[in-house]
Amino acid sequence: WFLWFQAISHLSHHKAKVEAMTLDLALLRSVQHFAEAFKAKNVSLHVLVCNAAAFALPWSLTKDGLETTFQVNHLGHFYLVQLLQDVLCRSAPARVIVVSSESHRFTDINNSLGKLDFSRLSPSKNDYWAMLAYNRSKLCNVLFSNEDPEDWTSVLGGA
Ligand SMILES: NC(=O)c1ccc[n+]([C@@H]2O[C@H](COP(=O)([O-])OP(=O)(O)OC[C@H]3O[C@@H](n4cnc5c(N)ncnc54)[C@H](OP(=O)(O)O)[C@@H]3O)[C@@H](O)[C@H]2O)c1
Repeated sequence: WFLWFQAISHLSHHKAKVEAMTLDLALLRSVQHFAEAFKAKNVSLHVLVCNAAAFALPWSLTKDGLETTFQVNHLGHFYLVQLLQDVLCRSAPARVIVVSSESHRFTDINNSLGKLDFSRLSPSKNDYWAMLAYNRSKLCNVLFSNEDPEDWTSVLGGA
């Protein structure tokens, strides 16, 4: 909050206009609404920081039926970037910053055959361990940030 306050103070000093908007990453519909509301403003988007995250949550499913840590920490951001991709491209130079964690190193999302195991991304209650869910979501952040922007359209098409 202190850094946020400092940033706002800095911007105010330069007479920048700051506006807050609501976004719930645990609800895909909310992400969609946010993207639509942002686009309706018809402004440029030069930097999108995907910072929000949940940590050490007890197991729960979102209204979209996915494990909450996975949806908040990765899928919500992923969806948001896809929805704003055209605005980002139009606003070049533009950059997406995905905040991950060193803890992404302490997990795996592949099965024993080296293939992506979707059940590890959104596990059932019996297979859930909060720390592991966080680590996996942070690994998704790293993999996402390694995506070549040229491939975004194909990524969206396969989602
Ligand atoms: N803290 C660490 O030691 C550490 C270490 C490595 C990496 N990181 C990473 O750094 C980033 C920031 O961490 P932090 O410790 O500053 O986190 P934090 O203080 O817990 O803040 C998390 C932020 O995420 C937002 N958030 C949570 N659920 C949300 C949802 N469903 N929709 C929209 N926003 C939601 C929260 O909003 P509300 O305030 O409205 O709830 C809050 O602003 C995260 O990506 C984290 O993984 C942190």
